Amino acid sequence: MTKNIEQIRSDFPELERSVHNVPLVYLDNAASTLKCLPVINSINNHYRLDASNIHRGVHYLSEEGTKKFEETREEVARFINSPEVETVIFTKGTTESINLIAECFGRLELEKGDEILISTMEHHSNIVPWQMIAEKMGAKVIEIPITDLGEIDLVAYKSLLNPKVKMVSTAHISNSLGTINPIKEMIKMAHEVGAKFTVDAAQSIAHMKVDVQELDCDFLAFSSHKMFGPTGVGVLYGKKEILNRMPPYQGGGDMIDVVTIEKTTYNDLPHKFEAGTPHIAGVIALKDAINYINSIGLDEISRLESELLNYATEGMSSIDGLEIIGKTKSKSAVISFVMKDAHPHDIGTLLDKQGIAIRTGHHCTQPLMKRFNIPATARASFCFYNTKEEIDRLINGIKKVKEFF
Ligand code: ALA
Repeated sequence: MTKNIEQIRSDFPELERSVHNVPLVYLDNAASTLKCLPVINSINNHYRLDASNIHRGVHYLSEEGTKKFEETREEVARFINSPEVETVIFTKGTTESINLIAECFGRLELEKGDEILISTMEHHSNIVPWQMIAEKMGAKVIEIPITDLGEIDLVAYKSLLNPKVKMVSTAHISNSLGTINPIKEMIKMAHEVGAKFTVDAAQSIAHMKVDVQELDCDFLAFSSHKMFGPTGVGVLYGKKEILNRMPPYQGGGDMIDVVTIEKTTYNDLPHKFEAGTPHIAGVIALKDAINYINSIGLDEISRLESELLNYATEGMSSIDGLEIIGKTKSKSAVISFVMKDAHPHDIGTLLDKQGIAIRTGHHCTQPLMKRFNIPATARASFCFYNTKEEIDRLINGIKKVKEFF
């Protein structure tokens, strides 16, 4: 049975709170989504009744915890249509997943003079790890330019592809602009010159279907906290053949096979990349987050969020002096904007006083800000639990900001 909006909203207790004595309007979903009751209850139950360590004990709690932890891996594999369960690796988040890929793939495959392509709109977590490994291996990081609409320039991308390119890494959806990139096409083009492709799916995973086999990506990274789950948990998916050849990322417990003082042999996938005690409660609760998404359905989520995006775009476009940054038609429910005479930081502060939470700043995408010749934007990002009434409050709030200046 499909839930109505009141039922959906009652699954997110934070939506009931007030800030500055007014009901909260939470429009910072691209930074982190709110948490649903099944996730909150799962974390609570874990620490009340189930806490122990996993993969180590023969006692009941350890075995039960291991089973639940591994059930999340199976759920994630189904969710992204991974051909194998062991190619799903748990990390701390998208940032750690991309650092792991860059470091381990880079050490395995990169040579002096090799090239890594990333786009202008990447988050710093999809720029800096590549710079670090490029410096170590003597490779080069090269920018794929974007158009004035905020789309990847596919003609320029094609011209940059050559056999020296070993990796292309781009966001599925831009966190700053909301642009949905044509990654399936881009992956195919990268493979034609023998390059691998990493998809930063942090902004897409909870908002549209992500199917690793359909995309044919080599790696995919995302975070639980942007999909109604806990912070401190992320996923790295990789093709088995490459993950098997890659050296481990961190040394420690669980990732080993045999250790002597002289030498260590490593565990199989996925454990080779999961050194140390993980965020057990968080991983277990990620399964509840995925079940929650499935209970609404990604098609329904896309439909609800497109409606919110269209409604907000229309309303905000009618405000004189407000300019939306990122005007492609292929967009998720994110609106970055600037206003004549008002610094984004002041917009954010004045909206906050009215109970409206948005994000302001460079959104960890400084090259993108430079591309548009702006220091920062104000960014409203919507989720299916938001309403048109909340968007009306945003629009009225922006109008008050305008009057203030
Ligand atoms: N990457 C997150 C954002 O875009 C934090 O806000």
